[in-house]
Amino acid sequence: MSGHGTPIPMTSRPCGPLNGEANVPGDKSISHRSLILGAMAVGETKISGLLEGEDVLDTGKAMAAFGADVINHGGGNWSVHGVGVGGFAEPDNVIDCGNSGTGVRLIMGAMATCDITVTFTGDASLNGRPMARVTDPIALFGAQAVGRAGGRLPMTIVGAKDPTPVRYEVPMPSAQVKSAVLLAGLNAPGQTVVIEKEATRDHTERMLAGFGAEISVEESDEGRVITLTGQPELKPQVITVPRDPSSAAFPVCAAVITPGSDVLVPNIGLNPTRAGLFTTLREMGADLTYENEREEGGEPVADLRAKFSPDLKGIEVDPARAASMIDEYPVLSVVASFAQGETVMRGVKELRVKESDRIDAMATGLRLNGVEVDDGDDWWIVKGLGHGNVPGGATCASHLDHRIAMSFMVMGMAAQKPVSVDDGSPIATSFPIFEPLMAGLGADVVRG
Ligand code: S3P
Repeated sequence: MSGHGTPIPMTSRPCGPLNGEANVPGDKSISHRSLILGAMAVGETKISGLLEGEDVLDTGKAMAAFGADVINHGGGNWSVHGVGVGGFAEPDNVIDCGNSGTGVRLIMGAMATCDITVTFTGDASLNGRPMARVTDPIALFGAQAVGRAGGRLPMTIVGAKDPTPVRYEVPMPSAQVKSAVLLAGLNAPGQTVVIEKEATRDHTERMLAGFGAEISVEESDEGRVITLTGQPELKPQVITVPRDPSSAAFPVCAAVITPGSDVLVPNIGLNPTRAGLFTTLREMGADLTYENEREEGGEPVADLRAKFSPDLKGIEVDPARAASMIDEYPVLSVVASFAQGETVMRGVKELRVKESDRIDAMATGLRLNGVEVDDGDDWWIVKGLGHGNVPGGATCASHLDHRIAMSFMVMGMAAQKPVSVDDGSPIATSFPIFEPLMAGLGADVVRG
């Protein structure tokens, strides 16, 4: 119900300690990529632990519309019979990616070098987001795009009949754009080179290597230079999706600010391009420990224990870490409200073009709940009040953004008064079990 259904108002009331195990769902980024790469391989890819949130289910439906056989075996086990690189069929109808920027941008890349024409749409949030960041590079391969003003969805892409490989420097730190170009490069002959100045999440590179593509990554003065040889035959894989650190962020941050808490999040992905929040929380004085560190399916994983941390301090977050925690700034700003002193977050312009303008959405809601925030184009500062001193009491707009809704629910757990959101329905896009999981730990989150 990512903005297509009736709004679901939600309220989080101050609660006692949070205790127990938080088995958060599978990683959203890896889940999308498992379905898309599975559809581009020849044969059957088996996936366990797939995130069954609306965003990923929409990508699954899209892959079926392109001709792959996508089967749900229950319990997070899925299989995809792929059609091979360049084998996508033209879908009979419009591809609706719902709320998902990752879904639409990766799929646009994957189809851009196939001789098919596809129309994409999404919900009100997605249809407001910029797509030129993908249509610019896929034009270099020979694809054409016609969308609404400002490069917005709905949009039709005419895939390149005779794709040529490209060399492309990604102008903003975006794993979606990098991945779209790499996926387009799969069906172009010769070598496609993608350069990123700042490292962003590298699941596409890791998974392409796993599927048997020839791909190399070199650190140079220009940045990370990724070279992919086009037109491989991708080999089907058996994939175990690690749990999502971006979903783990919510029970972890809730435990850190709620007195008496001790929460274990087993088996979460700790890829360094994703784990910036946990480093930042530790710098603020949070009691976090990694237990049982190991590697699974090419990704580092561990069990993460988070305990109530009464002496959190505001810090200047290292801007070099921004890409590795880009989805976690909303909930970090909640933790910052409970810290002593200012938390300064810079180099975060990308937050303004997520599912919502996340700086604006959080700053507005934090202020309504009694927390002072300053903000500018690519920075914001939260003036922490210290543990026990955050008033709460307000209803915030979630702007069709799952992470905004969940962040304010976390705030309500430790504020003086309950915190509400106007619409919690977008939570189902990435964390469909958020309410029962948090209730199981001892949170008091209710609808209404
Ligand atoms: C994602 C990349 C990030 C992130 C999004 C998932 C991905 O977006 O915010 O939730 O899976 O590639 P950008 O590429 O726009 O930074």
